Amino acid sequence: MALYISSLIIFFLIIIVSAQYLAHRRQRLADKAIGHRHGCLSAPRLPNQRPFGIDRLEQIFRADAESRLMELFLFHFRQTGSTLEQKFLGTKAYGTIEPANLEAILATQFKDFGIGPRRAITFPIFGDGIFTQEGADWKCSRDVLRPQLQHRQYESLDVFRAAVDDLLHILETRNGVIDLQPLFFRLTLDTSTAFLFGESVKSLVTPEATGKCTFATAFDTAQKWVTNRFRLLDLYWLVDGREFRQACRDVHRFADQIIDRNLSSSCSEEKESGRYVFLDTTAQNTSDRAALRGQIINLLTAGRDTTACLLSWTFFLLKRHPNVTAKLRAELTPTGASPSALTRNILKKMPYLQNVLKETLRLYPSVPVNTHTTLRTTVLSTGGGPTRTSPVLMPRGSAVAFSVYALHRRPDLYGMDAEVFRPERWDEDMPLQRDATAAKWGYLPFHGGPRTCLGMDFALTEAGYTAVRPLQRFHTIALPEGESVEKQAMTLVMSIKEGCKVEVD
Ligand code: HEM
Repeated sequence: MALYISSLIIFFLIIIVSAQYLAHRRQRLADKAIGHRHGCLSAPRLPNQRPFGIDRLEQIFRADAESRLMELFLFHFRQTGSTLEQKFLGTKAYGTIEPANLEAILATQFKDFGIGPRRAITFPIFGDGIFTQEGADWKCSRDVLRPQLQHRQYESLDVFRAAVDDLLHILETRNGVIDLQPLFFRLTLDTSTAFLFGESVKSLVTPEATGKCTFATAFDTAQKWVTNRFRLLDLYWLVDGREFRQACRDVHRFADQIIDRNLSSSCSEEKESGRYVFLDTTAQNTSDRAALRGQIINLLTAGRDTTACLLSWTFFLLKRHPNVTAKLRAELTPTGASPSALTRNILKKMPYLQNVLKETLRLYPSVPVNTHTTLRTTVLSTGGGPTRTSPVLMPRGSAVAFSVYALHRRPDLYGMDAEVFRPERWDEDMPLQRDATAAKWGYLPFHGGPRTCLGMDFALTEAGYTAVRPLQRFHTIALPEGESVEKQAMTLVMSIKEGCKVEVD
């Protein structure tokens, strides 16, 4: 009997394996035919020193520990080509920083690409929300969120005023060297909660108000785990642990507090003012707490870290470039720019301020690298063959990484001084403007296409206002002695490893 069962099992295993082999072979032949039809040639291959591409993972972890991960990716593209093929943990993966290919991934061939394992990797912390959704659910989240982010909702800048006043108060009352970066993370948490959920958690005034184990600590811990899960792609599940689960629980508890506080308060100022508060609309559409929690965490991720990084890098650069700061101060002098008179419209009419923010996001894009996965076999238009201009085949299930950080530092797009912080370049004729595709897809801090950032205008308005107010209030915002080395810290966003320390007067 036992022999009969074993034979049966072996028989079925052989059938399954053979069926998989045949399906795989059929797929390969079909892919080959597509490649042939489009004249595809292989992209240059990033060399490996060890079998299965294990060395790639080692390089990534080592470079990250040395705070130079983005430099490693930049080096890979410069060494190999703007579109490359690589072996990563035994599977073939691709990378590109070619504007025409980025246009395809993000817009024209949007339907051929999905978010891949992102949902599974981040689900323990993010749950169901705009970043982890695809298809109809994603579209629905975008539709609910869009009215919230229309600029008339923050035209007067009122939603930012209290938090920026709190920041200035801290700067006025503390002596000596101050690290602006953690303050910016608290500021953007306060403005995001005020704007999106109708009430600020006021973490600048009372950091402890955000929970015993603060949201920020738990969120940062969970993000570190998620970042390492991303690095293993399909093998993400190998990275899990008690600390990660606890951090996720703490973040969820924080979101639950927001739900309880906001939905029970019938006298919230925002509700009385009739302003669109996204959380209320989401709550009307669902009574499911997990769904509400997911949307909250997704939006806090979108709104807090990205803008806090932009602000931190802006001041990091301003204090190192006194000539830029002086020029910016000169733009603020006209009476129309007094703190109480400022509006979004006035900020938009400060071209040098806009150039400073644009240039900061060029060199330090908050989301410097991203990965999409092909949902079906598709073709990217350029990067293959000896001339590196032939189409490249992307078989179904391929991971395609793109580094906006490396894209923004291409000398052929930005000139030989592409690594230099120079806001003036945005008023000049840059190489990328000579080609329509490069002009549109060569600068992507907010990405582009159907999944483009919904908070771009909000973020630039918030960053502009938050940058201007300390400049108006203090005569000097200086670099403390001994502060000169740049070190980047990578999670889902790129922050400054050792913070943004300043002396204000
Ligand atoms: C400097 C600040 C910011 C930068 C650089 C930035 C950048 C980005 C990028 C690159 C994406 C695409 C991510 C992806 O598909 O993986 C994105 C998506 C998104 N961002 Fe932003 N963002 C910023 C601020 C904000 C703010 C303040 C909000 C809202 C308050 C926001 C809301 C969103 C949303 C909702 C999405 C998801 C869009 C979708 O998947 O359909 N962002 N952002």
